[in-house]
Amino acid sequence: MSSIEKDKIPSSLSSSSSSSSLPLSTPFVDFSKGINGFDKVILRESRGSSAEVYLYGGHVTSWKNDHGEELLFLSSKAAFKPPKAIRGGIPICFPQFGSHGTLDQHGFARNRIWAVENDPPPFPTNTLNKAFVDLILNPSEEDTKIWPHSFEFRLRVALGPGGDLMLTSRIRNTNSDGKPFSFTFAYHTYFSVSDISEVRVEGLETLDYLDNLQNKERFTEQGDALTFESEVDKIYLSTPTKIAIIDHEKKRTFVLRKDGLPDAVVWNPWDKKAKAMADFGDDEYKHMLCVEAAAIEKTITLKPGEEWKGRLELSAVPSSYCSGQLDPQRVLQGS
Ligand code: BG6
Repeated sequence: MSSIEKDKIPSSLSSSSSSSSLPLSTPFVDFSKGINGFDKVILRESRGSSAEVYLYGGHVTSWKNDHGEELLFLSSKAAFKPPKAIRGGIPICFPQFGSHGTLDQHGFARNRIWAVENDPPPFPTNTLNKAFVDLILNPSEEDTKIWPHSFEFRLRVALGPGGDLMLTSRIRNTNSDGKPFSFTFAYHTYFSVSDISEVRVEGLETLDYLDNLQNKERFTEQGDALTFESEVDKIYLSTPTKIAIIDHEKKRTFVLRKDGLPDAVVWNPWDKKAKAMADFGDDEYKHMLCVEAAAIEKTITLKPGEEWKGRLELSAVPSSYCSGQLDPQRVLQGS
């Protein structure tokens, strides 16, 4: 980032290590400039899939399959302008999910400038993956005024040879005052769907959830897979590690696999809330669905020196039909 572009960004938004220069590009990992001069990283796999990650927010903004089809939703009105988080893609919610806490909604990681880390601590790598980038966020002095803790947040974004997108977060308590800290977390993934009324989510039926639209009251999901006909904002608790989003019209199924993230948020603002959001098109709610792998109900507590890991793996596969109807077992087992 040039010094001029850097000047546009308030110092409180920059992580302390964001001044490091970017590594050289390779055929798999390309460092370039994105919207409003923000640094971005493009991951490319040899079969044609790709992903884009902005250092602003450590934010995945694009994930394309090997036909070049976009799989994530990014609002046409997304403002790439601090302190607003980018509307769409995969914002990282840390150290607070939601607004129940002392911090702004969804914490500050999503509107800080992350740095590329060239030599992160050892990572159990899949040697087949060449398209990956390691990012790091350290708190700035300003950050410690609002959240008085020292931490290292390492994020690896990787694209598998088959086009799967993998995000691994490692958060370490580096407090020198002996104090533990607690946090909540989410990968706030916006999936691109053809038509929200043609979509169903499998893997959450019969689970308990907290309804954000009803003062976080606890309910139990009834019946079959989830379908959508109005605003939804629910935190499903203790969910299975696999969740499927089936897009009938596109004949595409997204499969989420998660580890270390027991909860899952399902959110669609629908028409009224969509109109109230300045960085979201009035009708765009029809083409997105957030299913967010998260750790919310039980906060995560780390003592100094301890590290937490939370992993999300996304794949997009053609939907399989069974006598005109999707068979939930087949979708989840066969993926
Ligand atoms: C979801 C929350 O995760 O994010 C919703 O459950 C919230 O309550 C939505 O409205 C969007 O939040 P924001 O801060 O990005 O507008």
